[in-house]
Amino acid sequence: MDSDLNPFSPGSGLKPPALEGRQAEIDAFDRLIVRTKRQASERGILLSGLRGVGKTVLLNNFAAQAERHEWFVVQIEAQPSPEGRKATRQKLARAIEAGARRLRAKSAWSSVKDVLGSIGSFSVALGFTGVTATLGTTPGRADSGNLDIDLEELVEDIAMAMAKNKAGFGMFIDEMQDLDDELLGALISVQHLAGQKSWPFFIIGAGLPNLPGKLSATRSYSERLFDYRVIGALDHASSADAIGLPMNKLGAHLDSDALRALVAAAEGYPFFLQAYGKAAWDVASSKRVNLEDARLAIEIGTEQLDAGFFIARWQRATPAERQYLRAMAEDNDEASSTATVAARLEKSASQLTVARANLIAKGLIYAPDHGAVRFTVPGMSGFISRQYED
Ligand SMILES: Nc1ncnc2c1ncn2[C@@H]1O[C@H](COP(=O)(O)OP(=O)(O)OP(=O)(O)O)[C@@H](O)[C@H]1O
Ligand SMILES: [Mg+2]
Repeated sequence: MDSDLNPFSPGSGLKPPALEGRQAEIDAFDRLIVRTKRQASERGILLSGLRGVGKTVLLNNFAAQAERHEWFVVQIEAQPSPEGRKATRQKLARAIEAGARRLRAKSAWSSVKDVLGSIGSFSVALGFTGVTATLGTTPGRADSGNLDIDLEELVEDIAMAMAKNKAGFGMFIDEMQDLDDELLGALISVQHLAGQKSWPFFIIGAGLPNLPGKLSATRSYSERLFDYRVIGALDHASSADAIGLPMNKLGAHLDSDALRALVAAAEGYPFFLQAYGKAAWDVASSKRVNLEDARLAIEIGTEQLDAGFFIARWQRATPAERQYLRAMAEDNDEASSTATVAARLEKSASQLTVARANLIAKGLIYAPDHGAVRFTVPGMSGFISRQYED
């Protein structure tokens, strides 16, 4: 079929043609909006899951929903490494300013206007001076240079301004596991305080499966502050809709065995559903997609995933780290014991500490339990078994 009309969207954070299987999360966020309007207490939401399950898409969906309700919306993606730390803070400063500007034409603007000085001061405190020329600064507000204090004052000012309008202040943080400990700690502390003071401030975060553990390690009371939601693979019906509905909408139809084959190949993973759906659309010669088309689409879709989704991660690993990943792949996509991996590589666990730590820092693996590691990318072991280089 005409590839210009292809509705599927495999790609990081790309809005899918049909967002399937996430109604419970969408309802939870709607509840947060409604309760904030009633000035009732609520918790922030944290989404955690493997690569490509649709966390970013859901986070974007929530942020758009918050904006429709005239919330003060700040959206950032954290970056790992020391350079990333500075960049993340600058992004935060810029995103807060952008959040204010987006409310310009809204009824909340008259209250937001009063706190622009705090936003300017906070930016300076974060070491970002780009915005102060237009915002000005409020001396004595969010300008102490102590991140905890400044963030607290800023959140209080913005959240109270939003409370006047029965809206909230939402901070949407993607790849949240990559926030540095200082900023993460300050954010959790201010979320804790906001709950106690009834400021309508909510952190809505998304990250890898180790995110809840990272939060608890940073502040032990984190467990009580958030509504933790594990974002996983879609069930059969949602997977079938994710591929079938966008096709039907454009007048195309999948034979039931063809749809079954595509759904089985994707194993419920949204990224793979998009990749196979896209390939099926492209290979089908008519608006009726049959099993033969589906089989070819799975072959092509897998090649495309290998050449994009998987290879991008694989290339980030050094040869020593790849050996570590290969040893893990023997457990398929299940968790591997670090001791077993060491035994497979005929090394001591301590000789592998660096490779393991680097792979975690690169977001390729995570530690689901003490002494265990697992791929963050679904299907990684299958990909590794398709690689023949050393
Ligand atoms: N509920 C869904 N139904 C159908 N397709 C979806 C759904 N959620 C996400 N997708 C598709 O899956 C792909 C991955 O989505 P997204 O980038 O949000 O995943 P992610 O969990 O943020 O991944 P990563 O950890 O790599 O950042 C995109 O192509 C998106 O269109
Ligand atoms: Mg993402």
